[in-house]
Amino acid sequence: MNKPSDNDIKRIEFLREEIKRNNYLYYVQDAPEISDAEYDALMVELRKLEEKYPELVTTDSPTQTVGAKPRTEFGTVVHPVPMLSLGNVFNDQEMTDWYNRVCRMLDGEPFELMCEHKMDGLAIALTYEDGKLKIGATRGDGMVGENVTENIKTIKNVPLQLKGSFPGRFEVRGEVYMPIDSFERLNDERSRKGQSLFANPRNAAAGSLRQLDSSVTADRALSVMIYHLGWYEDGEMPDTHELILDKLAELGFTTNKYNRKVKDLNGVLEYYRECNDYRPTLPYPIDGVVVKVNSIAQQKRLGAIAHDPRWAIAYKFPAIQKRTLLEDIGVSVGRTGTMNPYAIMTPVEVGGVTISRASLHNEEDILRKDIRKGDYVFLQRAGDVIPDVIGPTPDSVTRPDRAEPFSMQKLLFNEEKGYAACPSCGEEIFREEGDAMYYCPNAACPAQLSERIEHFVSREAMDIKGLGEQLVELLLREGLLSDYGDIYYLKDKAQNLMMLPKFGERSTAKLLQAIEDSKSKSADRVICALGIGQVGSETASLLAETIGGIDEIAETPYEQLVDIQSIGPRTADSIVHFFEDKTNLEIIDKLRNAGLAVSYKPEKKDTSDLPLSGLEFVITGKLLRFTRPQAEALIKENGGIAKSDVTRNTSYLVVGEDPGSKLQKAVKLGIKQITEDDLLRLMGVGF
Ligand code: IVH
Repeated sequence: MNKPSDNDIKRIEFLREEIKRNNYLYYVQDAPEISDAEYDALMVELRKLEEKYPELVTTDSPTQTVGAKPRTEFGTVVHPVPMLSLGNVFNDQEMTDWYNRVCRMLDGEPFELMCEHKMDGLAIALTYEDGKLKIGATRGDGMVGENVTENIKTIKNVPLQLKGSFPGRFEVRGEVYMPIDSFERLNDERSRKGQSLFANPRNAAAGSLRQLDSSVTADRALSVMIYHLGWYEDGEMPDTHELILDKLAELGFTTNKYNRKVKDLNGVLEYYRECNDYRPTLPYPIDGVVVKVNSIAQQKRLGAIAHDPRWAIAYKFPAIQKRTLLEDIGVSVGRTGTMNPYAIMTPVEVGGVTISRASLHNEEDILRKDIRKGDYVFLQRAGDVIPDVIGPTPDSVTRPDRAEPFSMQKLLFNEEKGYAACPSCGEEIFREEGDAMYYCPNAACPAQLSERIEHFVSREAMDIKGLGEQLVELLLREGLLSDYGDIYYLKDKAQNLMMLPKFGERSTAKLLQAIEDSKSKSADRVICALGIGQVGSETASLLAETIGGIDEIAETPYEQLVDIQSIGPRTADSIVHFFEDKTNLEIIDKLRNAGLAVSYKPEKKDTSDLPLSGLEFVITGKLLRFTRPQAEALIKENGGIAKSDVTRNTSYLVVGEDPGSKLQKAVKLGIKQITEDDLLRLMGVGF
């Protein structure tokens, strides 16, 4: 067995946190910071390290879970059959390996394959009862998704009532996507209104479907393509994927006319090449082809490993690459004071979009790729608007007059001050050990200020409507705000507000009312609003629930913070650092004096009418659908209590694979034992 080095352990922790953070940005916020290709690279690196040190694999590692936890505002839906993801292959060799593996696992038995477009949208599950659409859900983390039924109903090609004969209850799965022309129109409109742009059609589709107000979804041109039967009961369905899709089309679902049945590997490779050729002419985005074993009986025999089925695979298209000159490397300052390096390039067209700037993420990444000012670089776009600088061209690397390797310290070095200075406020930048980012420590740094205030008033934080980007900048310029704490003292400056252009008595009153209303937000929202690096709304709620209010969090030492599950060293560091800063503490006092909730009182929900109300559960052994924390969270969400030890008060012991000693104890005490499926049934989900 390999003994992991400290560096490898640190790297694994870093990768997990980085992937989780990007999952959150991608799946929950619909606003990714890195390209798909870059994300894939992080995943591949983590998988390799975990293969090398299997003993370091944890159940909550991103390699063991799909996507991100669903947003709770929508209400959750447990998928009776988990929504799996797909394994990826990137070249003919890997595709051939997959094909040979299937041949082997089917003991040489003949099999057919179905080839389909890999739609680049987001997966949904639609449940029908007696031919009526009952539930529409997103994938979420594969086990639990968001209930987006009302939004799904606004999509024109989703049948609300089926025709013909169909099983009593069944679920189909497919992809919600935004056609390319609608995506371009939407972004044009957003740019005219000064709103932020969607990075790609996938994010636009996800952002449009996951709206709390379904009239917004109705306004966006979304469409659905159905490609899978999730499960069914009370009825019959054909025994091949091809015939199932035909049947679903008969019932009124939209299926893809490009689907093709093939006999062998050559058929797959031919389909792949054709698709890659005509792909630019398709009205919707695809990022590869999906290949599936046609016979359902054979699919069952092949089964699944972790979260990928063995009977299907995605063969991804290569990203489009171009060469251009890296004229310079610039640095911008982010909301949490991060120094964000970016490439300034000679404009070049990549896959239909002209690109002249791209994020270079951090110093470590630039050094790893060895990108230097003056290099010719390869720029890549993998279906995203977000481009990716892959690295220097070989001829750049061999140039004798090549510039020195990149150094943030050198680039930002200020002769007069004698240190590397924030380009916005001139304070000395710093970096914590194990963190890839440099930071500006100055909470009052102007570059951070407007971004911080915008975050403070945003929907997931204090949700102050009417305090948009432009108004924030104006208030900063006019000296009416110098930090977000000042927002609650604007009422003393109503006269000044009324003098602002386009600002009358009515709009002033409306704004001040929205600010007053926001004071009733609970402390977890205030914690999120503070803008602590790495702490979004999910982490803020977690902190409030496990530690308490702002003062308690401020006093919690680093060691105790990293002990909390799903808080990594970087997040813990960032929290400690935030509360060490005097300016931050002063702003918190402003909020406290204005009457905002700084102490956290967990909401006492009325759970008496929930299905598991009054019942106490203990889990033993490995569950198939959920990790232990997921199952416990579900029990709580449904009004039950999850305990770790069996006692006389235990109502049920949920027994998974390889149960432990808790089972014997339950037998002795005469406690009822149930399976994972029974638990789902008690919650009113499942078959
Ligand atoms: S089948 C168990 N078919 O790709 C197999 N998925 O990377 C379930 N996707 O979550 C998926 N086009 O969102 C299937 N023709 C297609 C697809 C497709 C796009 C998506 C789907 C899935 C993801 C996995």
